[in-house]
Amino acid sequence: MSNNHIPPLPYDSSALPRERARHYIPVTDREIQNMCAAVGVEGLDDLFHHIPPDCRLVPPLALPEELPYDALYEHMVAQSAKNRLPDASFVGDALPHYAVHDLVPFVAGLRELLTAYTPYQPERSQGTLMTQWLYQSCLVALTEFEAINASQYDRATALVEALHTAARLSRHKRTHFLLAGSLFPQDVEVVRTLLQDTLLTFDLVPIDTAHGIVALAALEEQAAACGEQLAGIVFPQAGSLGCLEDVDRLTDLAHAQGAKAIVVIDPMLLATGGLKPPGRFGSEGQGADLLVGEGQPLAIAPHFGGPGLGIFGVRFNRAHRQDIRSAPGRFVGAGTDREGRAAKLLVLSTREQHIRREKATSNICTNQGFVTTLAAAAILGRGEQGMQASCARGHEMARLAARTLTRFHGVELAFPQTPFWNTLTVTVPGSSAALIEAARQHGIHLGVDVSARLPDSTGNHLQLSFSDVHTPSDIERLSGCLTGLIGAPAPEAAAAVTGEFSVPASLRRQTPAQLPDWDADALKTFFAALSEQNISPDLTCYPLGSCTMKYNPYLHEAVANLPGFAALHPEAPVADIQGTLEVLYEIQTYFKAMTGLAAVTTQPVAGAQGELVGLKLFQAYHRSRGETRRDMVLIPHSAHGTNPATATMAGFETMHRGSEVLSGVVEIEAGPNGQMNLEHVRELLARYPGRVAGVMITNPNTSGVFELHFRQVADLIHEDGGLVYMDGANMNAIAGWVDLGALGVDAVHNNLHKTWSIPHGGGGPGDAIVAVSERLVPFLPGDQVVKTAEGYVLERAPQSIGSVHRHFGNVAHKIRAYTYLRALGREGVRRMSAMAVLAARYVHTRLKDHFPTLPEEAADSPRMHEFIITLPPATFERLEAAGIHRNKAIGLFGKLFLDFGFHAPTVSFPEAEGLMIEPTESYTQAELDRFADAVILMLHLVDAQPTILLTVPHFTPVDKIDDVAANKQLVLSEPLMALPEVPPNRIAPAQLAAMPLEAIAKAIQEASSARLEQHH
Ligand SMILES: Cc1ncc(COP(=O)(O)O)c(C=O)c1O
Repeated sequence: MSNNHIPPLPYDSSALPRERARHYIPVTDREIQNMCAAVGVEGLDDLFHHIPPDCRLVPPLALPEELPYDALYEHMVAQSAKNRLPDASFVGDALPHYAVHDLVPFVAGLRELLTAYTPYQPERSQGTLMTQWLYQSCLVALTEFEAINASQYDRATALVEALHTAARLSRHKRTHFLLAGSLFPQDVEVVRTLLQDTLLTFDLVPIDTAHGIVALAALEEQAAACGEQLAGIVFPQAGSLGCLEDVDRLTDLAHAQGAKAIVVIDPMLLATGGLKPPGRFGSEGQGADLLVGEGQPLAIAPHFGGPGLGIFGVRFNRAHRQDIRSAPGRFVGAGTDREGRAAKLLVLSTREQHIRREKATSNICTNQGFVTTLAAAAILGRGEQGMQASCARGHEMARLAARTLTRFHGVELAFPQTPFWNTLTVTVPGSSAALIEAARQHGIHLGVDVSARLPDSTGNHLQLSFSDVHTPSDIERLSGCLTGLIGAPAPEAAAAVTGEFSVPASLRRQTPAQLPDWDADALKTFFAALSEQNISPDLTCYPLGSCTMKYNPYLHEAVANLPGFAALHPEAPVADIQGTLEVLYEIQTYFKAMTGLAAVTTQPVAGAQGELVGLKLFQAYHRSRGETRRDMVLIPHSAHGTNPATATMAGFETMHRGSEVLSGVVEIEAGPNGQMNLEHVRELLARYPGRVAGVMITNPNTSGVFELHFRQVADLIHEDGGLVYMDGANMNAIAGWVDLGALGVDAVHNNLHKTWSIPHGGGGPGDAIVAVSERLVPFLPGDQVVKTAEGYVLERAPQSIGSVHRHFGNVAHKIRAYTYLRALGREGVRRMSAMAVLAARYVHTRLKDHFPTLPEEAADSPRMHEFIITLPPATFERLEAAGIHRNKAIGLFGKLFLDFGFHAPTVSFPEAEGLMIEPTESYTQAELDRFADAVILMLHLVDAQPTILLTVPHFTPVDKIDDVAANKQLVLSEPLMALPEVPPNRIAPAQLAAMPLEAIAKAIQEASSARLEQHH
């Protein structure tokens, strides 16, 4: 693609009111003046005056000037063109590039699915829930496991979660694992990084170098030696050299040792006609116990390796009814609403991290939600026949390639006796690295040099992968390229390789997967109807506190999907990926400038993973200083549940004796004003001298208040030898204003799906950037992008903790965030946070005379980007009198927001009786006023007619859903017979947005009265 070819944008930006606003902030200067006057400040600077001056950043920020809309698009097109896409690529390495089904871009454009939050309000999220339900059902059909969650970050981290699950299932009596050497080394590296300093351990069982699979005799021996310690055996179905493992034997072996059989699958290979589903592995067909896999290739292009889609499956049959309670992540279940209508909802959510804190089954919060939605679209779009064809094509092309390649002099199948499906390893004359580079110069990405995976390789092993994008002409192109490089092939196939490379029946699926073949147009109509069941921040203020539901520009979607970015494989040669490396390099630079810290990693894929990186860095730092007794982490009570859950996953398991904490997570008390109690920090440090690895502090905290003692706490912790993690989920309040280095921060994550404007996708994918202080630079995970005279190169930190992602994180999201940063420029970053604070203060000012603010004694503390209100005591009393118990009132009041055409605020977190409201900077004063007016009207409505809360919500497609029943009777998938019905909105959000508020109130009163009467 040349720089002068600018593809037209796939939307009309002039028709989108927020899209063309400077910095995507639609308020006018006049409105800013009005709002400042209303909250009692003279200008935006005043909003930050309470923050200690020595912790503030001095403008200008070291960021470039902002780029106007059209120039920005042109810049990003030119940037994408700096990546060089090959004419043909055979690079796969378990991330093959399949054709992206037509339904995928269509569904990706459905804004209510793309931009919504996690479906915590199921009545207004049936769209997301149904797509994730369909994903679960499709994967159940493919794998023949009974429960597939939706979803983990990627295959590597899903594997870590599987190991934790297996250990939990053995009640932590068994903590050792054997990992097949044929697993993908990138996955093994992530496992190694994340298990360091935890109770879990593993050994790698060598590869049988003659067969390219795990050495079975060695495995048997090692398994026997582990005895009762062995929690699980992990093996791939198709390994990192393309060879198919003897999955039945491996499953039996694990079971014979009383251990879990944990398999790494490729879902595409499980289609009808393909490989054996893991639910049937074993000589008795008993199946494996846990499965993980990578779903990204099912759904989307490689996007330089992220977002991925971690597949996680657990058994949920008669013999294993309870295993699911130990599993991580979200499951969508089937339920009914009050009137018996079928509905979907998140089930088992009592395990969710924000409720269970350090007892949670995982720290995952934002996951890969939208990739599951797209995977459902892709599988249903292809249908049974299409999936079968894609699966078969990869096999057919690999076999054709095997026949073709082995005609070249010196090229041989590395493992001629082992069956393969769509990936094969050959030996080449000379060095495979040199051959790859030579082919690159001819526009071919030949494959992956896998020599390092084989101890006796002489550097001549080459792995090639095939999928449904390949045709026989690609194999001819491959052949032509090799002819130029190593000479013409022999005319006939060599005797040793004339076989058809067939895969034995014991390794293959015997019965169809029975996916449906639904009509393409009907599917489009169906997904479009599903999107209308959700609500998007495009329409109106989406006040979900702590989630920063700001506007997500259309431009970012167009840019992230430019082929130069999207089609790039993370293992493509470095010379061809310079455009993306430059983006990553610039991001490193910008985040250093915006945080005041020394270095940045772009590898983590969500806030919670950023936290985990932070704690792993702390452990590495302490270890490097010989400090091995630091086994405690201090966390304030108001922290998001991911903080303590992360500490547990990192290895800070909490041990108690009575109420005394012996090790692990200790809570810092809050003072009456909701901020950390400095005295309590002192006490804890005195109680656990030299034991505190670090502190995790959310700042501004979840009450929306800047922690004024942050610096003092950091100093105390540092004096004791500990380190300081700042949970940066609320950076939208302070980005560009606060110098985190001066504040004493050692590590901080920025959630790109909050502050940096990437869409939430109904639960993810998110992304995170972690900035660190000088102390932690030597330990950074993954690779740093370094600028040299020859271009951008990758470099490992000297004492790196290893990788936390198999490649570079969710790079498509970094492209979006980079585009956003270029639109904001040095002024816009500060204007963005100031406007977010102004919007919150303005709405709070409008509401605070009607609703008490929480925490009570912090009512007058200056609010940053969010605030918490509760119902007045008299309203609680009226509700009690109407039979609505106090502990239900806030949740039900939240449902009233849905009837007014808004999403609910965050309910009952961090204050049990709180409604946490975060308006963000994306709305005009008139929109904020309408929201505030509506909230006040809701209070009047409830005061006048408290029984309204018995019948809310009224206008969503379904009534309030019975989550207790759905959790008792778990249903997690269904055979897909006919396209499910989509119940219509009774009044759609867009229609509600156009109605006068009084008319909505009247309609609610009428609907409620009618329902109550009907029930009498
Ligand atoms: C304060 C806070 N910390 C941490 C997290 C976890 O971030 P993520 O969901 O990106 O993993 C969240 C997410 O909602 C949050 O609000």
